[in-house]
Amino acid sequence: MKTLVIVTHPNIEQSRINKTWMEAIQNQDNVTIHQLYATYPDQKIDAAKEQELLSAHDRIILQFPFQWYSTPALLKEWFDVVLLGDFGIRGDKLRGKQLGVATSTFGPAESYQPTGYNRYTMEELLKPIEATNNILGMSFMTPFILHGVSNVTDEQLAQNAAEYVKYVTKKSVTV
Ligand SMILES: Cc1cc2nc3c(=O)[nH]c(=O)nc-3n(C[C@H](O)[C@H](O)[C@H](O)COP(=O)(O)O)c2cc1C
Repeated sequence: MKTLVIVTHPNIEQSRINKTWMEAIQNQDNVTIHQLYATYPDQKIDAAKEQELLSAHDRIILQFPFQWYSTPALLKEWFDVVLLGDFGIRGDKLRGKQLGVATSTFGPAESYQPTGYNRYTMEELLKPIEATNNILGMSFMTPFILHGVSNVTDEQLAQNAAEYVKYVTKKSVTV
């Protein structure tokens, strides 16, 4: 199985979590890392090139820092310009492939509960991506989420990055 990890971080040099995750998976067999902000500094996405990349992989993982309860802007743009035609709602090019999400949040786990200050769960907040997965006929992987990033020690992050390698390379869709 070939896996494409699309990393969308507006400021990867300043990143702690997403950079560590990216470094952890970079030497894995059959894993391609594709950074949107680095590839498109002008933010003009080449849809045909992106579609070629999608076709060449079986599992697509969207990796990003959670921003305003959503994806960074360039990843939303990617959805809008890449998932069209044969790769869109009437197409079948993505049917049967797997879609995963890996995201990090400042808010601690308990804040992403009905009783927490963010009020909604990550399962609820990630529904737009899950709904996109569904309409494209893809299989949605259980998301990989790291909460409360400011309280994560270096040791915990190293352990979490090892878990991330397993997530990216695992055989099944569910944990
Ligand atoms: C513009 C912006 C919006 C953010 N929105 C959220 C948010 O809605 N919820 C949250 O928990 N953290 C939010 N954060 C915090 C980021 O998720 C956090 O800094 C990031 O996951 C850390 O990952 P990194 O070390 O790879 O940068 C936001 C950060 C920025 C810069």
